[in-house]
Formats: sequence, C-alpha cells, structure tokens
Amino acid sequence: MRWNSSITIATALIGLASTSSAAGTTVVQDTVTGFTFSEYLAPITTGSTVISFRIAIPSPATDSYDAVVQVIAPTSVGWAGLAWGGQMVNCPLTVAWANGNSAVVSSRRATSHTAPTTNPAATLQLLSTGTGSNGTHWQYTAKCSGCTSFTGSGNQVKNLNPAGGNRLAFAFSRTRPSGSSPDSTIAVHDVYNYWDHDFSTAGNADFEALVARNQ
Ligand code: HEM
Repeated sequence: MRWNSSITIATALIGLASTSSAAGTTVVQDTVTGFTFSEYLAPITTGSTVISFRIAIPSPATDSYDAVVQVIAPTSVGWAGLAWGGQMVNCPLTVAWANGNSAVVSSRRATSHTAPTTNPAATLQLLSTGTGSNGTHWQYTAKCSGCTSFTGSGNQVKNLNPAGGNRLAFAFSRTRPSGSSPDSTIAVHDVYNYWDHDFSTAGNADFEALVARNQ
C-alpha cells in the first residue's frame, strides 16, 4: 500500500496544485498515481470542509470508456458515494468507506429512494496506489467499468460526455459501515448535492498504463 503524503492532500484540497477550468472543476496532476484528474471539491459543512471527487478518463475515449475515480474525504466521513447519473436512482453509485489503511469500494444501484443494492453492471477495481489513510483523511483510487455508460431511467442508455460537462451527484454519511464486505449495510446519507463535472479536462493518453502501474 502506498499513500499520498498529507502535504499532497493539503495541497490538493486548497487547490495549490490546480489550474482553473470550467464549471467549478479544476485540473489536478496527481504525482502519486500519475493520473491527470478533473476535480470537484464538494462542501460538506458550512465551513471549509470538503470531499474531493476526482475523475480521470482515457484520451481518446472510446464508447463505454472506463473511468478512474479518486475520492479524498475527511475522517469524519463514514461513507462517500458518487452518483454517475447525477441522481440517486437508476444510475451507477460508487460507494466507499475507509477500512484500516485501505478502503472498501462498493458498486450499487437504486431504483427508489431506499438502500441501494449491489450493481453487477458496473465493476470497481481498487488501485493500491492512491488508496489509504492518515490522521486527517482517507482516500481511495479505483477504476470503474460501466460507470460512464449505463441504462438509466425509462431504460434509456445514458452515455457521459467525455468532451464536456456531466451532472454528477454525491452523498455521504458520518456513519461508517461496520463491515469490510462491499455488500455491507450502509446508513442513509446526512448530505447530498449535485454539480457539473468537466470531463473534457480529465483525459489521460496513457490511461491503461497508469491503471496497470497503480494496481
Ligand atoms: C441506505 C441508503 C440510502 C437511503 C435509505 C437513501 C434514501 C434517500 C431518500 C429518502 C432520499 C430523498 C430525500 C429527499 O427528497 O430529501 C434520497 C435522496 C438522494 N440520495 Fe439517497 N439514500 C441512500 C443512499 C444513497 C447513496 C449511496 C447515494 C449516492 C451515492 C445517494 C444519493 C442521493 C441523492 C443524490 C439524492 C437526491 C435526490 C435524487 O437525486 O434522487 N443515496 N436518498
């Protein structure tokens, strides 16, 4: 297990390593994993506490392209979830929580506003580099296959635009699931919100090589 230093995180969280781009997302070069990420800092309190949601995609992006997601959360966050369709229902939900020096990643889906169940249509591969915890934060890095193209509401196939903005949503709970199994019971969220994530700045020409290097 290799871990980002707290300096890297602090730098990322206050944006010093970032350059501006459209729609509230910034570009982050992660020196630990080597990925270029498009990052959104989601406020979770009225203060300055945020969860960092980062996305990397291949460049060029083929149909149904894979994505790498990296999430950095304060230790007060029990689980953090990313909703790839910008809503809770009928889209892939990537839920994760800290597990010692690693993390549990869980692919879920909901058809109503009740506890989401396991989603075999989207598979997650946890990458060991870029996953871990320190005294203030935990983070994970994972590849998702099936998160950028999925069957949404009304059985319509939805493809996230690799060259523009996509509406995403997140949710988190302060209650950490007690288990280390991906199908552990999760508590309902304390906070959720939405944003427009710029995928046009998330491209990585060496995407597959980076995934292989960080496994
Ligand atoms: C035990 C698990 C969960 C329960 C019981 C639950 C329940 C609910 C309920 C009742 C609402 C409606 C709240 C309102 O209208 O104010 C809601 C909204 C929402 N939930 Fe969940 N939820 C759970 C897990 C998740 C997860 C894992 C995610 C994302 C990764 C998520 C994302 C959202 C979002 C974005 C909304 C806003 C409304 C929408 O877009 O549909 N939820 N949830």
